[in-house]
Amino acid sequence: MKLTLKIWRQSGPTAEGAIHTYQLDDVSPDMSFLEMLDVLNEQLNDQGEEPVAFDSDCREGICGMCGLMINGEAHGPEVTTTCQLHMRSFTDGETITIEPWRSDAFPVVKDLVVDRGAFDRIIQAGGYVSVNTGSAPEAHSVPVPKDDADRAFNVATCIGCGACVAACPNGSASLFMGAKVTHLGLLPQGQPERDERVVNMVAQHDHEGFGGCTNIGACTAACPKEIPLDVISQLNKDLRTAIKHGH
Ligand code: SF4
Ligand code: FES
Repeated sequence: MKLTLKIWRQSGPTAEGAIHTYQLDDVSPDMSFLEMLDVLNEQLNDQGEEPVAFDSDCREGICGMCGLMINGEAHGPEVTTTCQLHMRSFTDGETITIEPWRSDAFPVVKDLVVDRGAFDRIIQAGGYVSVNTGSAPEAHSVPVPKDDADRAFNVATCIGCGACVAACPNGSASLFMGAKVTHLGLLPQGQPERDERVVNMVAQHDHEGFGGCTNIGACTAACPKEIPLDVISQLNKDLRTAIKHGH
């Protein structure tokens, strides 16, 4: 495949960025999107130019490190992570525009790399979960209904990639927060600090500059783990309950 790449280049957090155009002449449809960028970077190295900075780690859709706006869509045209997207999703001769996540709360570090520390601080604000130390309790003494266990497991698959924020016109992290709050709120271990957790996480979310949710649904459409929109209803319900309890 031959491709034209239009890529956001920015040398540092305060530098002015711009779109630069590159040509690739020999891209296999079986390459992943990140492998295609590796090929570009080898080409740039050979030409004595600075390679394009981008994030990745597992390259298996597990860690949440990768994440690019590809032709204006978070993680590109498929419901998957950028590392699991393959070049067969594009056509020979196509022009592909690649930008970093779009969100004030995720400032650009360099080129396509953004700082998602705001997510870590939201998790940190959520605090700890009380557990008794000592020997493991007998499993059947803490029954969890099957439906709750399944839903907790499903929403726990959120990898913190940030696509929900990048896709949201409000830059809201409600889907991410809703996934975390719902996961712990469904399990017995999550009950003692439940009220405090949701209040502190939402306060940190707002402090970081994420926007409010207006039920657009772009977040869930872009989410590689298909976290459902109703976790945001659960988040709001938990927040109302906590406020009713005097938090
Ligand atoms: S909710 Fe989905 S899109 Fe948002 S951080 Fe989690 S996995 Fe990524
Ligand atoms: S690099 Fe780990 S999810 Fe993409």
